[in-house]
Amino acid sequence: MAFTKMLINETPIWAKLNLHQKSTQYFKMRNLFAENAHRFDEMSEILGGFLFDYSKNRITEETLNLLIELAHTAKLGEQMQKMRQGEKINISENRAALHIASRLPENAELLINNENIVPKIQAELNRALLFAENVRQGYLKTFAGEPFEYVVNIGIGGSDLGVRACALALRKYQNSNIKVHFVANVDKADLDATLAEIEIEKTLFIVSSKSFTTPETLINATTAKKLLLTKLPEKAISQHFIAISNNIQAACDFGIAKDNIFQLNEWVGGRYSATSVIGLPLMIAVGEEHFRQFLSGANQMDEHFFTAEFRHNIPVLAGLIGLWYNTFYRSASHAIIPYAHDLRRFPAHIQQLDMESNGKKTSQYGDYLDFDTGSIIWGEEGVNCQHAFFQLLHQGTRLVPADFIVVVGDKGDIHQQTLVANALAQTRALMAGKTDAEILQELAHLSAIKRDELLPQKRFDGNQPTNTILLDELNPFNLGKLLAFYEHKTFVQAAIWGINPFDQWGVEYGKALAKDIYPKLSNSCDTDYDSSTNGLIAFYRKCE
Ligand code: F6P
Repeated sequence: MAFTKMLINETPIWAKLNLHQKSTQYFKMRNLFAENAHRFDEMSEILGGFLFDYSKNRITEETLNLLIELAHTAKLGEQMQKMRQGEKINISENRAALHIASRLPENAELLINNENIVPKIQAELNRALLFAENVRQGYLKTFAGEPFEYVVNIGIGGSDLGVRACALALRKYQNSNIKVHFVANVDKADLDATLAEIEIEKTLFIVSSKSFTTPETLINATTAKKLLLTKLPEKAISQHFIAISNNIQAACDFGIAKDNIFQLNEWVGGRYSATSVIGLPLMIAVGEEHFRQFLSGANQMDEHFFTAEFRHNIPVLAGLIGLWYNTFYRSASHAIIPYAHDLRRFPAHIQQLDMESNGKKTSQYGDYLDFDTGSIIWGEEGVNCQHAFFQLLHQGTRLVPADFIVVVGDKGDIHQQTLVANALAQTRALMAGKTDAEILQELAHLSAIKRDELLPQKRFDGNQPTNTILLDELNPFNLGKLLAFYEHKTFVQAAIWGINPFDQWGVEYGKALAKDIYPKLSNSCDTDYDSSTNGLIAFYRKCE
């Protein structure tokens, strides 16, 4: 039996929170607002152009005090400092988790085994930024001696989702001379769709893979390489392919020149890597100045996270409130709803960040956890979501906490103002609902019979909780803050639940099975799986 520390759900504060949930579960947020005109002032925090409004939650000051007591019981502060100092908190892989080091300022000091690792990180960052600028300025040439016009990042998971989401988010800051594309799925349709948009002789391929063993990425990269070789000679590969990896040898074996390999450190987890050299496609897309602003924003959120007291600590508050619903209300999911088309891929990034980190039922010490941990993260851009799933949020039976990410943007522009008005209206409607009196007032023009008939159909119970993150602009600095905010929120929840958010053993099983099944699809040997898998393989084989 592994060494067991006190499980958090065996502590007195856990029992207190359970009781508190039972005694406050019928509180109405609209009453909490009516009773306290300062609720917003007391339950919102500002970090520069980043406002975090958590007042539309099913919490009281007592709830917050109890949740903060839970955080202290879980020694959250101690765990935060261990992460910051580079301790090997990723126990199962015996690694540190130092994504924050990727965005430390160049004069910072971070001692690992008495060596300041910041200069090395800065050197690799500067090498990547210089490479990106050389591509942007046309100093780096294609085999034909022309500037590159296209960049295609081939990667998946953390080597795709975060950097892709950020590149889309910073559309307005992108260099118009170079089109950056992302290919992730092994489904050839993904690569084909991109190939239809580019001229391969004018394209730089970035093979992004920390392990350089991910089958999907290697299959896509190999196909792209073969396609390039139908147009250009073998020696063109060294000009048209670069890699970002922790596995230098494998990248060299693939045929990538050593000077064109950018080192991703082992202590940067894939889903936490967008501010590392994995961000190279973003550096090419938006340039050095904007990428450094992105890093500075993430670093500002890091500093806030490591120094602000918990009662005013934005990622800590978000983590605690999310845990309050997930674990004590047993809400299964958490929605990420960006009211910004340019943030439309952000929910997909948070899905991996949160669910690959916290989708675990075993503590980092090997104990089975019999309480709910990671939420199911999902989401869609607003206002589209209002015409898709908001019916369920307003009148369904589920408790669905949601984060609304809203951008002030171009004030006075009809599109932008309509977008913001809808975001604020929806969070208010979800919170306040409607009383029967308000509904009957609206139906006053109808007969009494019709009014009574319609009343139940038009009821809005409200009390659906939301956080609103309001950004003054969707700029690189605020995007960096937003990215780091979610990384630290995820860590807060893992630290309290007692799980390791930095390993991902759960993804290995399916991969190994796929390798076993693959050859059996194209031969006629007997299969000894379950009857479903055997039946599916048989049907596949029969298809012409
Ligand atoms: O999803 C499993 C995973 O290992 C992720 O953690 C990682 O981001 C992704 O696959 C890609 O891994 P690599 O960067 O090594 O190709």
